[in-house]
Amino acid sequence: MRKESRLSHWICWIVAVTALFFLGFIIGWFAKPSHTKTETHEDFSKNLKEFLDEMQTNQIREHLRKFTRLPHLAGTEQNLKYAEQIKKEWLEFGLDSVSLVPYDVLLSYPNKSQPNYISICDDLGNEVFNTSLAEPIPQGYEDVSNIVPPYSAFSAKGQPQGDLVYVNYGRTEDFFQLEREMGINVTGKIVIVRYGKIFRGNKVKNAMLAGAKGIIMFSDPADYWAADVEPYPDGWNLPGGGAQRGNVLNLNGAGDPLTPGYPAKEYTYRFSLDEGVGLPKIPVHPIGFHDAIHLLKNMGGRIPPNNWKGALNVSYRIGPGFTDDFKSQKVRMNIHTNNQVTRIYNVIGKIRGALEPDRYVILGGHRDAWVFGGIDPMSGAAVLHETARSAGSLLKKGWRPRRTIIFASWDAEEFGLLGSTEWAEDNARLLQERAVAYINADSAIEGMYTLRVDCTPSLHTLAYDITKQIASPEEGEEGLSLYESWHKRDNWTEDRDAPRISKLGSGSDFEAYFIRLGIAAGRARYTKNRKTERYSSYPVYHSVYETFEIVERFYDPSFRRLRAVAQVRGGLIFMLADSKLLPLDVNEYADSLGKYAQSIAEVAQKHPEQMELYKVSFDSLFSAVQNFSAAARDFYARLQTLHTEDPLQLRVVNDQLMYLERAFIDPLGLPGRPFYRHVIFAPSSHNKYAGESFPGIYDALFDIENSADPEKAWQEVKRQISIAAFMVHAAAMTLTPPA
Ligand SMILES: *[C@@H]1O[C@H](CO)[C@@H](O)[C@H](O)[C@H]1NC(C)=O
Ligand SMILES: *[C@@H]1O[C@H](CO)[C@@H](O)[C@H](O)[C@H]1NC(C)=O
Ligand SMILES: *[C@@H]1O[C@H](CO)[C@@H](O)[C@H](O)[C@H]1NC(C)=O
Ligand SMILES: *[C@@H]1O[C@H](CO)[C@@H](O)[C@H](O)[C@H]1NC(C)=O
Ligand SMILES: *[C@@H]1O[C@H](CO)[C@@H](O)[C@H](O)[C@H]1NC(C)=O
Ligand SMILES: *[C@@H]1O[C@H](CO)[C@@H](O)[C@H](O)[C@H]1NC(C)=O
Ligand SMILES: [Zn+2]
Repeated sequence: MRKESRLSHWICWIVAVTALFFLGFIIGWFAKPSHTKTETHEDFSKNLKEFLDEMQTNQIREHLRKFTRLPHLAGTEQNLKYAEQIKKEWLEFGLDSVSLVPYDVLLSYPNKSQPNYISICDDLGNEVFNTSLAEPIPQGYEDVSNIVPPYSAFSAKGQPQGDLVYVNYGRTEDFFQLEREMGINVTGKIVIVRYGKIFRGNKVKNAMLAGAKGIIMFSDPADYWAADVEPYPDGWNLPGGGAQRGNVLNLNGAGDPLTPGYPAKEYTYRFSLDEGVGLPKIPVHPIGFHDAIHLLKNMGGRIPPNNWKGALNVSYRIGPGFTDDFKSQKVRMNIHTNNQVTRIYNVIGKIRGALEPDRYVILGGHRDAWVFGGIDPMSGAAVLHETARSAGSLLKKGWRPRRTIIFASWDAEEFGLLGSTEWAEDNARLLQERAVAYINADSAIEGMYTLRVDCTPSLHTLAYDITKQIASPEEGEEGLSLYESWHKRDNWTEDRDAPRISKLGSGSDFEAYFIRLGIAAGRARYTKNRKTERYSSYPVYHSVYETFEIVERFYDPSFRRLRAVAQVRGGLIFMLADSKLLPLDVNEYADSLGKYAQSIAEVAQKHPEQMELYKVSFDSLFSAVQNFSAAARDFYARLQTLHTEDPLQLRVVNDQLMYLERAFIDPLGLPGRPFYRHVIFAPSSHNKYAGESFPGIYDALFDIENSADPEKAWQEVKRQISIAAFMVHAAAMTLTPPA
């Protein structure tokens, strides 16, 4: 072999090896997940903008249209069909995986061949008046079958007969007034209360505790009519024949009544019906105001206080029973509703995280509806659907979030938050280790005025940040951000110049995630003007008149309000899933704890002598809050010098941020409410819809002036203060440096 030939041979080899080396390098570079190529802040902002811009009003309109054509009560075939359709469409949108997750839970339905109604009986027992068996069907839906008539889910069966007593809204304070000021004993009576102000299950519990043998709830125009608005279909007020369905459980977060604490799987042990959690022991039934007039108009007894009077042309006398001419007439409830273990289906869709697949951000909302669900929940489900579509569209362009996103379409929310709670129970171990945040996606609209946000304090700042990047949906506010529009319409004012954000209560699917598991949570929806619109929830709530048309014609003809809500919910999810540093604000938590401690101490200070006598002090709680504030400030200062390129350093602080909410969970739960374990927040014991801060202390102080054993009652207050102080201090410790 000649010399040059050998040389050229070597050159060839060197060139080939070098080329292969570079080729390998280039392939390796491109094969790496996109995020390791240091995603810049510009990429992030561009992706967020693209994600928000992709959400479209006409798409939301179409989603709402297709999912509100037929009634889809939990446990029915139609609700399973919608679940299958959602699964199919989420896969088409591009989610990585979607599955149906079933549970067998206790539901409750009227008996089709033995309808529920209430009657007035003469002294021979003849039913001389009967309430209606169904609501008048709205135009265009006359041929629809499977519209369940108004009923109170989980009512006891029975046919109690007796005298009526009117108890205003059936609140704790209403029963106090009835018993303590008016001296009326409802034992053995049937109470009639108006809907509104508090969760209906609390009304039923109060009636049971007072000894009533039945309870009737009616929708009074004072609470379900907006001024100068026509009843549906000419406007959005509740017609006189409309009534509010709803469950009347007192679950306190238990989920399925027969399997508290554990997922309702095939092999799960089930309690018997009389051992079930939160089931009322008396018959319950809802009616509209056309029927209510007949029950109320002849009532006798004392004249009510003015604030007990609704807007019907009747006296609202308290009873018991009817006036002289009608004294021999009684009221009879005929209730034949059945409890039944039934299969339900959640739809769970996932987008795998690129860098931190073991960190979960959840967007969940329910799919089951009382009838069509035009507002509750499908306005929310349509928005959830659009969020999933938009995320899928970004995925198809190569984006992938840093963390895993989970989309959930829950079943049986209307029967006590069952689908979401069973899934939380099923996945509790994973979620307590891995869940970053839960954003709720129930009804996206309940009014036409402005945004409403309820969330954990650490999400305040994120809610403000994201709404600054979304346009106001209001006509004539072009160029204004949603934040500006919201600020202008609902200024917090008390102590800060920012839009109002409220505490989370309950009454929707975030409950198990936030209050049982301690996962940072929030919700956002469009709402009414709280200053001028005094009606409860929205007039047609849980009636057959919650149709697609009520949204399209009255609540959001342009669908821009629903898009704004989609952008808020989606934006929160995007930021939580894709920001390097978790957008949770520990200083906001510190500020809120300070306010809550102040206000609970003020409740106690209404009893200065007893506080002195029993040596009750809030010093430990204030000390703990101070420690928390100091730890939060130091933590925040350390964030400023954090090397965000160092994945381990980043992960350390992100874990501290994620686990902060978890630190408020007391495994023993609140007194008598084992599934309410968050020491800072719980649903009020008097109204599940409202949030109470430092609930353990609040409940110990409640009505303490009437306590039979004041010494014991104040000892409990002291015990609760010490638990709260310890928990806040312990949470502060989780924010200290790793070593
Ligand atoms: C429904 O009512 C019918 C007629 O009274 C009765 O025969 C049937 O057993 C009831 N169904 C249930 C599940 O209770
Ligand atoms: C009420 O319903 C019962 C049972 O169907 C019936 O016997 C009675 O006649 C009805 N009363 C009126 C006033 O319609
Ligand atoms: C109410 O009446 C029942 C039965 O008539 C009686 O047992 C009960 O003690 C009464 N309650 C009060 C507070 O008087
Ligand atoms: C209210 O009811 C009374 C007695 O039933 C009746 O005379 C009066 O006309 C009613 N008023 C209105 C405004 O309907
Ligand atoms: C909110 O209220 C504060 C205090 O009253 C006031 O200074 C501020 O201008 C208000 N902001 C808006 C947007 O109305
Ligand atoms: C707050 O921190 C101080 C200093 O570490 C400590 O002495 C005090 O006990 C803490 N407060 C509580 C309620 O733990
Ligand atoms: Zn709902």
